Amino acid sequence: MSCIDDKHILQIENLSVSFTQYEQGLRQIDLKVIHNLNVSVHEGELVAVVGASGSGKSLLAHAILGILPPNCNASGNISFDDELLSPVRIRQLRGKKIVLVPQSVTYLDPLEKVGDQVRKERKDESVLKKQEELFTFYGLQKKTGDLYPFELSGGMARRVLLSAAMMESPRLIIADEPTPGLHLEAAKNAMRHFREFADKGNGVLLITHDIELALEVADRIAVFYAGTTVEEAPVADFQSMATLRHPYTKALWRALPQNGFQPFPGNQPYVKDMPKGCPFGPRCPQFTLECEEDVPEQVIRCGTVRCIYAE
Ligand SMILES: Nc1ncnc2c1ncn2[C@@H]1O[C@H](COP(=O)(O)OP(=O)(O)OP(=O)(O)O)[C@@H](O)[C@H]1O
Ligand SMILES: [Mg+2]
Repeated sequence: MSCIDDKHILQIENLSVSFTQYEQGLRQIDLKVIHNLNVSVHEGELVAVVGASGSGKSLLAHAILGILPPNCNASGNISFDDELLSPVRIRQLRGKKIVLVPQSVTYLDPLEKVGDQVRKERKDESVLKKQEELFTFYGLQKKTGDLYPFELSGGMARRVLLSAAMMESPRLIIADEPTPGLHLEAAKNAMRHFREFADKGNGVLLITHDIELALEVADRIAVFYAGTTVEEAPVADFQSMATLRHPYTKALWRALPQNGFQPFPGNQPYVKDMPKGCPFGPRCPQFTLECEEDVPEQVIRCGTVRCIYAE
């Protein structure tokens, strides 16, 4: 929830994702990796999801696209253009209206030339022209289309994945760490493309651990910690620590180079050792016993936060 009146493109409410695992072959355990997560993207918005490694960012992307592994259970509501997504509906939209720029370049088929993959085997003149334009935009030579994935560098493969996503006429792009391996200019190009795409009235969910990058292009930032959004804030709130709401977001802010590079001790808890109540409790300078209760999400100044002491 926020103060934005624009229409929702994506709305995720109360998403939980857990894995069924067997310990020592017998005891079945449920590992809850995402819990009670809310995130939204409105028309014209680029929303960045930032969080540490293992916080559940890729699982969020896979949950939206309906491509979670079989030992995974998801609950909650995911709506696209105000329509609740069913497994059948997401299959129709996936790769067309909702596209993924995957985190791993292994999503490319090793046995097919990358040009054919980007075009989805279509041979029409207009499709070929669009593919060539995208390759030029991302600094790939025309002949790259004739290569197999193993012949590409990591950066080239990532630019191929970006081209593949942009080939369609999507309404929502979910980009999962799209920039590692790219040199600065290519990364900035990709971000510019996402920004222009959102400005046309579409939506982008940009998943990244690079908060500086997110602050440059996003309208709103959703901060992930141990499987949930602890804060959703307009990007302008990051100009000063005083306008941020959650102690973890404030710690991220202090760790930015322009704010003194101050490290924050401790680590995100492992899914098997989740503390009671607030997942940030054990690291939080404001911790009290009340933080061991369930922490509801509250709306403060056009943003959301899960902290009982937020103001
Ligand atoms: N197939 C699986 N079985 C069990 N646990 C899994 C599986 N896939 C992911 N996890 C766990 O779920 C958690 C979230 O994983 P996820 O890949 O979404 O993290 P992430 O935020 O994308 O991390 P990164 O920044 O490294 O990409 C991790 O603790 C991971 O170990
Ligand atoms: Mg990931």
